[in-house]
Amino acid sequence: MTDTIVILDFGSQYTQLIARRVRECRVYCEILPCHAPVQAIRRLNPRGIILSGSPASVYDQDAPLLDPDVLALERPVLGICYGMQALAHLLGGRVAAAAAREYGRAELRIDDASDLLAGLGAETRVWMSHGDKILSLPSDWTPIAHTENAPYAAMRHTSRPLYAVQFHPEVVHTPGGRQIIENFLFKVCGCSATWTMRSFIEKAVQGIRETVGGERVLCALSGGVDSAVTALLVHQAIADRLVSVFVDNGLLRQGEAVSVMRAFRERPELPLIAVDASARFLRALKGVTDPEEKRKVIGAEFIGVFEEEARKLGRVEFLAQGTLYPDVIESQRVRGPSATIKTHHNVGGLPRTMTFRLIEPLRELFKDEVREIGRELGLPDSILWRHPFPGPGLAVRVLGEVTQERLEILRSADAIVEEELTGAGLYRDLWQGFAVLLPVKTVGVMGDARTYENVVGLRAVTSEDGMTADWARLPFEVLGVISNRIINEVKGVNRVVYDISSKPPSTIEWE
Ligand code: XMP
Repeated sequence: MTDTIVILDFGSQYTQLIARRVRECRVYCEILPCHAPVQAIRRLNPRGIILSGSPASVYDQDAPLLDPDVLALERPVLGICYGMQALAHLLGGRVAAAAAREYGRAELRIDDASDLLAGLGAETRVWMSHGDKILSLPSDWTPIAHTENAPYAAMRHTSRPLYAVQFHPEVVHTPGGRQIIENFLFKVCGCSATWTMRSFIEKAVQGIRETVGGERVLCALSGGVDSAVTALLVHQAIADRLVSVFVDNGLLRQGEAVSVMRAFRERPELPLIAVDASARFLRALKGVTDPEEKRKVIGAEFIGVFEEEARKLGRVEFLAQGTLYPDVIESQRVRGPSATIKTHHNVGGLPRTMTFRLIEPLRELFKDEVREIGRELGLPDSILWRHPFPGPGLAVRVLGEVTQERLEILRSADAIVEEELTGAGLYRDLWQGFAVLLPVKTVGVMGDARTYENVVGLRAVTSEDGMTADWARLPFEVLGVISNRIINEVKGVNRVVYDISSKPPSTIEWE
């Protein structure tokens, strides 16, 4: 049994980062919403519990407070930022609004280096980001570190393994953060570092076998690493009761269909049914310009195609999907954006009438973990490292109506972007780099003639998991070459622009 840590999410933008840091220490963890019933926590039998930060104040009317039953589980607890205030508030300490929000670097002076703060020296830099501060500690708690502004920058219970820090150990701006998390996991909770991708594969294969029983599974391959890894795992579990279907929806990147077929042809043990459904998708998209409508139309067509294929195959009970952890978390946010931003990531877009039962073996993993598994399972680099690509494909990158002609323009421009980023050695450093086709025309001059043609937007971002992203500072020379090549080589384009917006407040895709 792998040791598990539960992270209770009070709505911080950094909650996923906490999870990543814990898993980087090779300890398995799961994020649960802070209002999760205590039985859900007990069921995971965690070695310890981490309370995340939050944009809230414990005095807000609808503040997400800490359930006292969580402490009654008698597991070690580490409260981070708001998690510390929630602990203090629950246990009778005094929390109050600070005169000013403390945001940024602070020097932490360590008063007790015996366990949580061991190995950090007398002073270390930490990252603060909080509005409220603690004025007095609950009884039986003692300070273990302070900063100039915060006499209680870290505290611990005098007899129980309960700890809290006002700063954020999970962010890179806290250089000793990794040490603090390791101290909590290994010294305080007594975890062992046994969470490896090998152990995940074994557990996942076993789980799939148990769920599927003697039934058959259809796996929809998209060409991306997530669905390819899903197929390989399911195949390890149930061998030829897996049927993989690759649907060419006509919305793929240049050469994508061919490269998927080639990769799978090299694995004859994984039989692949290829369906060319491009005409059908284009027909369904005719006249559709609203981004959400496009996603719904495409989701419905996908399921239509799978159901048709499944019918030809006789009884197929399950559909396997490559849903990842960030998708799952985005759909169960505690606070934050409760409105739909985009119904994406597999989770949202499926029609209710679907007749399959779903299996999603990657729903606890981050992208880099999936890539590691893919490597273990022998996937080629061309699939492992290709940038993430949205399910609705180029349909959400051809802004406005999707036509064959506009798809062709975009595909050619996008192929140039990929080629040049790869040539410049930048492709792997980016989370995504791609072209979008705008629904406006602009005036240009070519030779002596006026042109009135399309604009291509370039989007290149760095990101850890797609939930937040920054625009990539691509070298001007690379941008120059991409722009020249697109305007010279792609008929119908006379202008290229570069997108310099971060997420939030923009999103990575334009639709
Ligand atoms: P946004 O545009 O929301 O994208 O910042 C975040 C990540 O998700 C991908 N994405 C999608 N993936 N179906 C998907 O499977 C979708 O409808 C969809 N929309 C966006 C996007 O490419 C980025 O990696």
